[in-house]
Amino acid sequence: MQRSTSAPPSVWRPLNLDAFLIGAPHYPEQVDESYWAHDAKRIAAAGFNVTRMGEFAWHIFEPREGVFDFSLFDRAIEGLAAEGVKTIMCTPTATPPRWLTAAYPNVLRVDENGRVASHGSRQHADTNCPDYRVHSRRITKALVDHYRDNPHVIGWQTDNELNTTVSTSYSEATEREFRRYLQERYKTIDQLNFVWGGHFWATAYDDFDQVGLPRNANPSFPSPGHVQDYHRFLAAMTAAFQQDQVEILRAANPRWFIFHNVGRLADIDFRGQFGRDLDFLGFDIYPMLYDEQSRTGGHAPTQALHLDICRSYTGNFIVPEQASGFGSQPGFSTMTPEPGEMRRMAMTSVARGADSLLFFRWRPAHFGAEIYWMGIIDHDDVPRRRYAEAVEFASDIAKLKTDLIGTSVRMDVAIAGADFDNQEAHKTYPIGLPSPVEDAMRLHRLCYSKGIACGFIHPEDDLSRIKLLYVPHWVMWKPEWDAAVEAFVANGGTLVVGALTGTRDHNNHVLRVQPPEPGLSRLCGVRVEETGRVAEPGSDGLFPSPPPRPGSNAPAVRPPAGSTARGYRLTLGNQEYDAAHLYELLDVDADVDVIGWWSNRFAGGRAAVTRRKHGKGQAIYVGTYLTDSLVEGLAEQVFPSAGVAPLIPDLPQKVEVTVREAKGRKLLFVLNTDADPATVSGVPSGVDLLTGQSVNGALKLGSYGCSVIKLAE
Ligand code: GAL
Repeated sequence: MQRSTSAPPSVWRPLNLDAFLIGAPHYPEQVDESYWAHDAKRIAAAGFNVTRMGEFAWHIFEPREGVFDFSLFDRAIEGLAAEGVKTIMCTPTATPPRWLTAAYPNVLRVDENGRVASHGSRQHADTNCPDYRVHSRRITKALVDHYRDNPHVIGWQTDNELNTTVSTSYSEATEREFRRYLQERYKTIDQLNFVWGGHFWATAYDDFDQVGLPRNANPSFPSPGHVQDYHRFLAAMTAAFQQDQVEILRAANPRWFIFHNVGRLADIDFRGQFGRDLDFLGFDIYPMLYDEQSRTGGHAPTQALHLDICRSYTGNFIVPEQASGFGSQPGFSTMTPEPGEMRRMAMTSVARGADSLLFFRWRPAHFGAEIYWMGIIDHDDVPRRRYAEAVEFASDIAKLKTDLIGTSVRMDVAIAGADFDNQEAHKTYPIGLPSPVEDAMRLHRLCYSKGIACGFIHPEDDLSRIKLLYVPHWVMWKPEWDAAVEAFVANGGTLVVGALTGTRDHNNHVLRVQPPEPGLSRLCGVRVEETGRVAEPGSDGLFPSPPPRPGSNAPAVRPPAGSTARGYRLTLGNQEYDAAHLYELLDVDADVDVIGWWSNRFAGGRAAVTRRKHGKGQAIYVGTYLTDSLVEGLAEQVFPSAGVAPLIPDLPQKVEVTVREAKGRKLLFVLNTDADPATVSGVPSGVDLLTGQSVNGALKLGSYGCSVIKLAE
């Protein structure tokens, strides 16, 4: 396997490796050594070429401060290598050993209520704490000094799912670092007071040393500026913590690839320093954490959504952990993939941008907080259906990889994503509104179910390959994005802008001009005169649960379930829709077509959805939030003129489809996410790389069946 220099982050970027890595995380420290040789043989026989290890083994690498012992892992790595299986090593900083937390208790995280993290689980160390960073660099250095010349170690994972258990800390060290960060950012306290709005509620400070960490409901709401900067700070510190390790790893061996396995998307700016320091991102995929009844619409569309979001940060990624079976920790359990589904879920990851994949995990643990998180083989050492599916998937990859490597995922409809500031700005002042991603999910789900190539993209990325860009209520739209978006429209693209977009500046202050931000306003030909609340049909108030109003005993008033008595409606085409969350009254320019009207109450007769032609394209403004029915109505109105059409027409329910392409190559993934067989018609002609059979027209997919068709030129 060769690593080449990575291109700048972009949703279109494939991995910079010339091989597809396939395997499983492995924990030899949890398995009696008498099993190892047999394990290595079966890992190789499955068609795996890699394992990942070491992320929770600091106590073994360094049993006492300054005393190192790598012998257990040396033997494990050697044994696997003898069967042709390489190793990805991890820095073990998610679980510092007990001697460390006992000798240096200041490295422990502290929660919002002042509770110091206890030793005995994971992510208890405070990655903002300078003393912890010293230890992190020390163990990383010791590891690379030992492994720099080991030919079987091919790359590194930093830490493990940073910020997934918890991303915040309120320790003294964090507070000190926060002050230092603010001083560097603002230079003078007056500037900080201006940005945070110190004249509101007398929140001004005389000195950086007076500034604390923002705490919710203590007793009321902290300033949005304060909260935004705390999260910017956490992201900067997480990137710096990782960068310490990356610098040491890169200096030791430039042939190694370096990635991080992303878990929860909290307080990390993946498109920023954090992602730029890496060769690529890793993304852990556990679709069964999302039940069928969940808001996100079940585990298959949710997996697709997560993969598409992940790809928008830096491009194609690897999946260092892909769910294989039943999963649990003491407090919860997941559904179990049905026969055939583990392979299908893995193929979905590949279909949406995974360029390597490891099934979690080789063996299940017999002790600890994940005894029922199943692996490829069972507790009794018997390989059963999960092993068989892993073998099948490995043989699928062997058939695909030559055509697959170097391709990226096609996107016709793209949702603006991967912007840390906008994601956080929403959270500083949510007022019960869906987040940008929660709103965009409705469009994503529609595209997913209709087989339209869809994903997420940052406005700074290359927009020339997409047909439609939807901006889901990005309050902090930056003027520097205007030119690229204007060019995208002028060249034939369709821009769709949602309510509240471009209403605040980068300090989170509300603009002093009529929104949206002037560039967007010109492009769309609209200005928002008034914004107000609309109750979602069936909702029971602004907050999903009773509002946290300190001191108020007022009972929450609940309208009858399903009541739309006070609802606002809009008409689009010849259909009327309930509006959700917000209405906006729009002033429109003379060259703008109104394509949707408010149709009742005092807004009746005012523009709700507008279209302005610009160059070869169009800019559409939607003065409300999406609902499932409104998104369908908008798609009917807008997709044909945007040139957006399904990859396969009339896709049967529960079949998903994507295209991965590169110059002269097109692979069509058609995957059945259901146990019932499906017949797909209208499939373009090509050869199914998994079966070697020609396909043209009708395609039969068995239970959880997968087909990857190399399309004829
Ligand atoms: C991941 C984590 C693994 C393991 C797995 C199953 O989030 O990285 O260490 O905990 O989940 O729970």
